[in-house]
Amino acid sequence: MKFQNTLSFARELDTQDPLARYRNEFYFPKVNGSDVIYFTGNSLGLQPKRTQAFVDEIMKDWRELAVEGHFYADKSWWDYHERLAQPLAKVVGALPAEISVMNTLTVNLHLLMVSFYRPTKKRYKILCEEKAFPSDQYMFQSQVKFHNLDVSDTLVEIKKREGENFWRTEDVIAKINEIGDELALVLIGGVNYYNGQVFDMQTITRAGKKAGAFVGWDLAHAVGNIELQLHDWDVDFAAWCSYKYMNSGPGNASGIYVHERYLNRRDIPRFEGWWGTKKDTRFLMQPEFDPMETADAWQISNAPVLAVAPYLASLEMFEEVGMQALIKKRNLIVPYLEFILKEIDKEVDSSFEIITPKDRGTQLSVFLHGEGRPLFDYLMTNGVITDWREPNVIRLAPAPFYCSYEDMYRFGQILKEGILKK
Ligand SMILES: Cc1ncc(COP(=O)(O)O)c(C=O)c1O
Repeated sequence: MKFQNTLSFARELDTQDPLARYRNEFYFPKVNGSDVIYFTGNSLGLQPKRTQAFVDEIMKDWRELAVEGHFYADKSWWDYHERLAQPLAKVVGALPAEISVMNTLTVNLHLLMVSFYRPTKKRYKILCEEKAFPSDQYMFQSQVKFHNLDVSDTLVEIKKREGENFWRTEDVIAKINEIGDELALVLIGGVNYYNGQVFDMQTITRAGKKAGAFVGWDLAHAVGNIELQLHDWDVDFAAWCSYKYMNSGPGNASGIYVHERYLNRRDIPRFEGWWGTKKDTRFLMQPEFDPMETADAWQISNAPVLAVAPYLASLEMFEEVGMQALIKKRNLIVPYLEFILKEIDKEVDSSFEIITPKDRGTQLSVFLHGEGRPLFDYLMTNGVITDWREPNVIRLAPAPFYCSYEDMYRFGQILKEGILKK
């Protein structure tokens, strides 16, 4: 499609957008009395209007039924989280039995490492990407220390090549093969938080497993953003948060995936609690742990239903729309944003370098050469919500659920004004 940097062209794209009506399903913060242009759905998704009703329902049931709500609420609490498995399985390409919702992301990655990082004298190394999200780095280091191993010998980071801003799949594979039978675990962010790169999860998973390692993915920036086929890719495990593209609220519950080959087994090392034991015997309060036949075996505590409710509301919307429609819009709105950036670049002295490689989802990370924090501040005070990463990178994620093509056009105009005003 031949794009134009005009308001009328952007509005025409909005008219033809089958998801346009979903914009009104979300609350937008306001700056100077107008809805913001929201580019930080990769950090915290906007609040869907329908979420309130899901939370209110639990407050009402609690008010009117108290403890009886566990079993007699319309959406009973004791198995509330199970309602999420089916729709979430579709979002990540898994079987419903392979999905559970619990805790928060880093906690879940730790719990999954308990099961899938089992270092031996020979096979103990962990492969991750360099400069992984800090929480992942702390997690790796603490896990390694927990096993009384040496961090510098155990943690192997895949580097980008000199002068390049992205990881090459061939370099990841080469590293896997180089470590070979010392490799215990490959655990990488499926979509990198900084440059927005989408890793070739299928190829890397195949190589890691061929080397005899477990392969897991941190999908914080992938879920609800890109197409995932975790089961078919033969991924061992994965976890993600729900507050980014899944629009489920700050710090909210995390999802996990565990391949079906590890389900219904008692020989898997796992930190266990009563919500992971079989439902029909759970309340007999017996001492033996009898694992649920699904990924719910990894559940520990009774589900925090007030936190899980917004996730259920969000999944209702994903069910209605489907990942394919979101991806289709993403594949138009992101190139349109890129086009706008290039057009504005021609009109100003500064230059923008998109450091996100072609393997990308919704996020564009843009190096603003010749610009600094004042431009970011200008954007924020003029209603463009984006984020800033050192040295001078802004991340722009036009979430297809609620961003419009007009937003992209208006952003370009505000960006230009901000640069020319300097
Ligand atoms: C890639 C990645 N991993 C881990 C985390 C940490 O998530 P949490 O604070 O929910 O544990 C984040 C948070 O943004 C993230 O982006």
